[in-house]
Amino acid sequence: MGPSQHPTPHSSMAIIGAQWGDEGKGKIVDYLAAKCDYVVRFQGGNNAGHTIVIEGKKIVLHLIPSGILHPRCVSVIGHGVVFDPQAFVEELNDTESAIGQSLGRFQDRLRISSNCPVITSYNKLLDTLRESQGPIKIGTTGKGIGPAYEDKISRKGIKLKDLLDRDILKEKLKQNLVEKIPLFEHLYGVSYPAVSDEVERLYGLGKILRPFLSDAFSLIDEALKNGKRVLFEGAQGILLDIDYGSYPFVTSSNTSIGGIYTGAISPGRPVEEVLGIAKAYTTRVGEGPFPTELTCAMGDLIQQKGHEFGATTGRRRRCGWLDLPLLKYTVKASNLTSLALTKLDVLSGMDTLKICHGHEYRGKTLTCSTPEIDLNKAKPLYKDCRPFRDTFEGDTLSDELKSYIATIEDFVGIPVGIIGFGPGRDQIRFMRDYL
Ligand code: GDP
Ligand code: IMO
Ligand code: MG
Repeated sequence: MGPSQHPTPHSSMAIIGAQWGDEGKGKIVDYLAAKCDYVVRFQGGNNAGHTIVIEGKKIVLHLIPSGILHPRCVSVIGHGVVFDPQAFVEELNDTESAIGQSLGRFQDRLRISSNCPVITSYNKLLDTLRESQGPIKIGTTGKGIGPAYEDKISRKGIKLKDLLDRDILKEKLKQNLVEKIPLFEHLYGVSYPAVSDEVERLYGLGKILRPFLSDAFSLIDEALKNGKRVLFEGAQGILLDIDYGSYPFVTSSNTSIGGIYTGAISPGRPVEEVLGIAKAYTTRVGEGPFPTELTCAMGDLIQQKGHEFGATTGRRRRCGWLDLPLLKYTVKASNLTSLALTKLDVLSGMDTLKICHGHEYRGKTLTCSTPEIDLNKAKPLYKDCRPFRDTFEGDTLSDELKSYIATIEDFVGIPVGIIGFGPGRDQIRFMRDYL
């Protein structure tokens, strides 16, 4: 079945979304975390929504790494993550009540870099104002992600460690606000929290966060040096990457492999296995080009059968067939070594099954499409695939499903090592070993 599959288990591995996010990363991370010493988030923030379903109970994680449900695994939030302290505290409480464990237990196995940029009230306000009144609507999650990364890059950001000292926090917030005042008062004409209120809010949250803060970089560096099993959990997907994605309809971080080396560890400790997660079809939330989008009854059918609603905002996800030219690009853009193909159960039993094997663009047929082209003008070329009716319970894969998987493997040049047949923790089949 497709390209060679002779892997040896590795001690470090990355899980990267190979499309526009929501590929099912959380479920795969949760499954693999059982074998790991550390699970590390390295970019994004609580714009992510990673769903794990255990014995029918649904848990959605936004900031907390998806390794948290495994007691012997330490979850780490690296310095590349933009951190909303209020959202974190709420998520901790929600997760505790969902799994019935106390905060004390979490403190033992959750470490947060004190170097993470903080998402302030001003960042969130700016995000929502731009979406409602700005010149382009990206369809963001409204969590303040873009403005927080802007502050970081322009060297005006607040870091988590700043929350521990009231005077430093006050001074930095004052400096941070100078350029935003004209935006709030004159451009958008809105009121905004006074610095003194924001200082008290963040300082209070800092007291709760203090026990979790650590030098996450050194922790992971040591772990890798000592051969510990480390899993890097990507958020979003490569097509939402600020540099490699469908700009400007992207998020504001490096969601691709490079994000690990700026947001958690140094390139001197390379990640050995890079598992790309892809749905067996394609979805997207928010605005932006989507060549294989189905704005017809078939798109509605996939959306309904796949329960395609955003895990963070509840928005309906746009749906379409699998786009191989874009998948081939994302394989290259993160040097993916294998793929997990999720949600095959959603396609199973459908009478029609198509796959996009080329983009017609300016008189040429492209088999690997980069966002350097105008993806709005890329016309998808489809081939019909033989529909399959496999279920998770079946012992073997049908020839039709094998052929669908082989088509993907042959096209993108890497093997499919995992297939997903349902949202449940165990509704996964492994075609090879990981970790
Ligand atoms: P993530 O952001 O990549 O972690 O993915 P999300 O959690 O946002 O979205 C994936 C959705 O698909 C969630 O509701 C999962 O429970 C669900 N899911 C994951 N894998 C499968 C699968 O193989 N089959 C089905 N039917 N649902 C799945
Ligand atoms: P997970 O980790 C899907 C999208 C938003 C919007 C764009 C920018 O669950 O796969 P932002 O708030 O980041 O500035 O929004 O990125 N987006 C996601 N889409 N899954 C996600 O995360 C996303 N995080 C952000 O919908 O189009
Ligand atoms: Mg998601």
